[in-house]
Amino acid sequence: MAMMRRKLVAGNWKMNGLQKDRDFLSALVDAHPDAPAADVLLCPPATLLSAMASAKPDWLMLGGQDCAQTQSGAHTGDISAAMLADLGCSHVIVGHSERRSDHGEGDALVRAKAEAALEAGLVPIICVGETLQQRESGEAEAVVVSQLRASTPECDAGAVVIAYEPVWAIGTGRTASPEDAQAMHAALRTAWPGADSDLLRILYGGSMNPGNAEALLSQSDVDGGLIGGASLKPDQFASIIRTLR
Ligand code: 13P
Repeated sequence: MAMMRRKLVAGNWKMNGLQKDRDFLSALVDAHPDAPAADVLLCPPATLLSAMASAKPDWLMLGGQDCAQTQSGAHTGDISAAMLADLGCSHVIVGHSERRSDHGEGDALVRAKAEAALEAGLVPIICVGETLQQRESGEAEAVVVSQLRASTPECDAGAVVIAYEPVWAIGTGRTASPEDAQAMHAALRTAWPGADSDLLRILYGGSMNPGNAEALLSQSDVDGGLIGGASLKPDQFASIIRTLR
């Protein structure tokens, strides 16, 4: 049974963006005076969320880049899912490979963060992806499926988003081929534990840009993109959104 899943184009600014970069929003609105044909989400740094929440067009959703596993308490420097929801966020990225490697986050913590997001009414975007060494040794699918199983709470497929981000494709200019991305997304959908996998949105991330977005986003199991570098440039981000007309 084929389901229509609405595509989602999500920008992850990572640790980039100062007050002056709020201009991005007006450039994006100039490029899209009307609501785009896809869902569009921007995850700027937490320091810009409040200002962007009051200046954004209705069709643009905002998300955090990480959240704590609890909603409040003595955790200096952490930001909770409840705080992100309070600012008007609808989504939060959890388990990005940069947090897995820079901060030693493992599947159990990522799952706890995803649970905290659900509890706060946010949609967690749960990231999975293999390293180059794992791909070259033929383990990519096993690694990624195992991350999916261990990092995802028990919930409806519609309550979460999965992002497949091969580590070797992030910020490198190398992307998975559309065929390899499709194969991995299909494997992830098959591995989804519930009977509602048709509702699961699976994004591709890793050097997506205006030149390769159409080929990747036209794959049947690629339900959108999680875009780093190209999401910092309004013309490039707008051009990726436009491929979904
Ligand atoms: P790039 O698009 O810069 O490769 O980053 C991808 C990514 O990590 C998005 O979360």
